[in-house]
Amino acid sequence: MVVVEEDWDALTFRVHRSAYRSAEVFAREQARIWGSTWLYLGHETEIPNPGDFKTRTLGGRPLIFCRDSAGVVRAFYNACTHRGTILCRHEEGNTKFFQCFYHAWAFTNAGALHALPDDEAYPDVPAFKERMALRQVPRLATHEGFVFVAFSPDVPDLMTHLGRAAHYMSLTARIGAEGMTTLPGVQLYSVKGNWKLAVENAMDGYHFAPTHNTFVGYLRETGFAVTDDDQYAYDLGGGHGLLILTGHNGRIGMVWEPRFGDAEKERTIDKRAEMVARLGPELAAEIADASRILFVFPNLLLFDLEALTIRQLEPVEPGRTDVRAWQFVEVDEPADVRTLRIKTMVSFVGPGGLATPDDIEAYEAVQRGIVATAETEYDWSDMSRGMANEKQGNQGRSIDEGAMRSFWRHWAEVTA
Ligand code: FES
Ligand SMILES: [Fe+2]
Repeated sequence: MVVVEEDWDALTFRVHRSAYRSAEVFAREQARIWGSTWLYLGHETEIPNPGDFKTRTLGGRPLIFCRDSAGVVRAFYNACTHRGTILCRHEEGNTKFFQCFYHAWAFTNAGALHALPDDEAYPDVPAFKERMALRQVPRLATHEGFVFVAFSPDVPDLMTHLGRAAHYMSLTARIGAEGMTTLPGVQLYSVKGNWKLAVENAMDGYHFAPTHNTFVGYLRETGFAVTDDDQYAYDLGGGHGLLILTGHNGRIGMVWEPRFGDAEKERTIDKRAEMVARLGPELAAEIADASRILFVFPNLLLFDLEALTIRQLEPVEPGRTDVRAWQFVEVDEPADVRTLRIKTMVSFVGPGGLATPDDIEAYEAVQRGIVATAETEYDWSDMSRGMANEKQGNQGRSIDEGAMRSFWRHWAEVTA
């Protein structure tokens, strides 16, 4: 069945709503997307020390993301090689060994089967232990500290997959003179909506003013005029999308707005001088002047707005998505800046902020609403906004739906 229908003569683009509901579509996505391409696993700075680990699920598969005792970043399937029990039942920690609670096999943090009780029952113990080593995810690669894995060995290399998105990840990674790091702790929440609604929402500038009118009012009251002028959407290829936003908000250390306070105003001038000296005026301006929302297909969102957030999407069911979010900050920034950054972040994209609950309500409302038209001829969602402008060869605006269309085109191609 055709899910995405596009007609450049009629200037129509529509997506069949079964794509958000159907178990069959979900199973196809698991195989053709989540099982077949690079997925964002986490950032190296989440596991800074040898022995550090985090557990998380990607594409439905429980994983251990760890740094072994020699400092090598690894990803293992979190299933004991003996009979498949979840091996590590902690969210995070530091360990030299992962020991299975069922029959007490112990694996090193580099994956070797180190010890098992009563091993003399196996004829050739060294060979058996080697055969039963912990299973690594077949592909793991890193760009700017962002760690990706693939469950299929046959994926192109990571930089080919990232394509033009790699550059925008680098821009964010180069904000801090001493580098960037994730803050400890994760915001984990579950949304009653399909994962693709979360992607659409992030690439949708059209909803900003109506959905987030409380936030827009708050900015206006603090002296910042929000505008949708000169804000554009880019198709980066491979399903990746980008919004470049200038009138959206200030940027800590880079574009001052009144709610940041006077001390930050002066620091912003110094910080720009530092960036220009380190990176040159052009690159400094490209990094600092505009906010960016980057989507890296299929599960990474990088919000480089007034504060920086890394968000990861994990589809659980057709109508349910787990979201993890981390704050991304400059290494060694002054304590008062760090406080301002965290405060600013939670005010907007945090799970209790002025934006994210609105967004979640929006895509949960879509998920609830689309059952109304199931099995009728009206079971389609429209994403044609801005096609006439695009047809004339103009750059798509952030308040049109071009970035959604490029996502859906890629989705249709890979799931066909
Ligand atoms: S299942 Fe893990 S030791 Fe048996
Ligand atoms: Fe939003």
